[in-house]
Amino acid sequence: MRMDSQLLKELNEKMKDVTFTLGEIQGVPLPANTCKIWDQIYNFQAREDDILIATFPKAGTSWIQEIVDLIMLNGDVERSMQAPCFVRVPFIDINVKPMPSGVEAANAMKSQRLLKTHLQIHLIPPSFWEKNVKVIYFARNAKDCMASFFHFQKMNRILPDPGTWDEYFFTFLSGNVSWGSWFDHVIGWWKAKDKHQILYLFYEDMKEDPKREIRKISKFLDKDLTEEALNTICHHTSFAIMKENPMANYSAMPSFIFDQSISPFMRKGKVGDWKNHFLVAQNIIFDEIYKKKMEGSGLHFRTEL
Ligand code: A3P
Repeated sequence: MRMDSQLLKELNEKMKDVTFTLGEIQGVPLPANTCKIWDQIYNFQAREDDILIATFPKAGTSWIQEIVDLIMLNGDVERSMQAPCFVRVPFIDINVKPMPSGVEAANAMKSQRLLKTHLQIHLIPPSFWEKNVKVIYFARNAKDCMASFFHFQKMNRILPDPGTWDEYFFTFLSGNVSWGSWFDHVIGWWKAKDKHQILYLFYEDMKEDPKREIRKISKFLDKDLTEEALNTICHHTSFAIMKENPMANYSAMPSFIFDQSISPFMRKGKVGDWKNHFLVAQNIIFDEIYKKKMEGSGLHFRTEL
């Protein structure tokens, strides 16, 4: 996506005081502009060889995206750096003018497409299931998602201001954030994983042993990677390298959308940063609610390594 600098300047000025609101689709809060084109999103036509990456926001979408893109390219870093990540991988549930919507961008793209969504399982366009598309779901523990989302909502101009951390703590727990409840999201996709071609992975596992997890993905995608390609992918998708990669760190995203002077997109990239945010009392409340909501789900998350 290219824009001339004068246009960008004017847009930045125009958007300075614009506040974006959330709408709702089937009880799930979504950016109002997403709701406006909901019919187009729900009727999106998937193709058989698409690969879909599904995540709750801040679960490490950009990380898994970069990994899968490089697997598809057999570790060819040069080719992966031909465009920013948000151009290479259309985000089907986003609609921010003057950029093309995710649906428009995906429709204009040749196969094989790598696509991204934050939608909960019941909102996924049915054509993905009709075409038996392979999906990689990347999950991250709720405490780190909450801390990461708080900072992201401060810098992302198309999402509501999060307020103070103490306010946000309850906003997040009640599921009143864009794309809805973290609990519904991770559990919904977990339950669906055996009904469809879904590979369910965890941020914490990827942090612990990226090579092991990348092997799982390449097997799922029927890609035979050489040891050299595997090593290249591990190196190129490490936090330190991605933070400096202009095609992965969102520095190409106009600042009227992401204001990285407030908080960088590639912020900490750690397991356990929640400890720098949660008060002792908040942690007790959180653990109590978490236990009830996750009971019987069969899902286990690690909050430290
Ligand atoms: P933090 O805010 O905790 O640092 P998403 O891409 O879903 O918006 O998620 C962004 C989060 O993933 C941010 O978390 C970001 O730093 C982290 N992230 C991005 N690339 C990463 C990488 N290569 N390794 C580890 N974490 C990464």
